[in-house]
Amino acid sequence: MDLMDAINNRRAVRDYTAEAVEQPVLESLIHAAVQAPSAVDTQPWRFVVLRERQLLDRISREAKAQRLLHEPMAELRAHLENPGFHIFYHAPALILIAAEHQAPWVVEDCALAAQNLMLAAHAAGVGSCWIGFAQAYLDSAAGKSLLGIPQSWVAVAPIIVGHPRSVPPPHPRHAPQVRWIG
Ligand SMILES: Cc1cc2nc3c(=O)[nH]c(=O)nc-3n(C[C@H](O)[C@H](O)[C@H](O)COP(=O)(O)O)c2cc1C
Repeated sequence: MDLMDAINNRRAVRDYTAEAVEQPVLESLIHAAVQAPSAVDTQPWRFVVLRERQLLDRISREAKAQRLLHEPMAELRAHLENPGFHIFYHAPALILIAAEHQAPWVVEDCALAAQNLMLAAHAAGVGSCWIGFAQAYLDSAAGKSLLGIPQSWVAVAPIIVGHPRSVPPPHPRHAPQVRWIG
């Protein structure tokens, strides 16, 4: 797929079939992620691939409860208070991109890896969506021990992937505000 085609047409997908994403496809997405640039070439990203439905459901419940304690936006609170709202939209897999430990630029590095992963997913016909709702929980002591990852890791980008049942229309972008100098 042409790069500009992928950039222009990738969407945050929130409606998935139950079909699993094939192992080689998941591996190709992680391969794309690690091609991202990183500050001082530290490549701090680490990955957790979670495909256990019961664990995904549990994380959805616990992340919602934790998030509700602090969520100021009424629209988001309404979602979180809805028992039928699944923060992972029942996607068959979650890929968490985390940094090995806290250090300057690790969040930027992992976010760049995340964008590569989402573009590669789109090129492979796989839907994806970054789930910010899960981030604080997965970065908490409870979330890390549930995943069996070291407490030193920094959870940055929880990304669901799956085969899209439907794809939403694009959100029109605001015209870029640019101060041109020279
Ligand atoms: C940091 C970040 C956090 C996000 N968190 C969520 C989330 O928790 N739930 C969700 O449904 N979408 C989430 N999204 C997806 C955005 O809502 C989506 O990218 C945006 O509406 C633009 O749509 P598009 O990606 O289809 O262009 C998140 C995106 C980013 C970059």
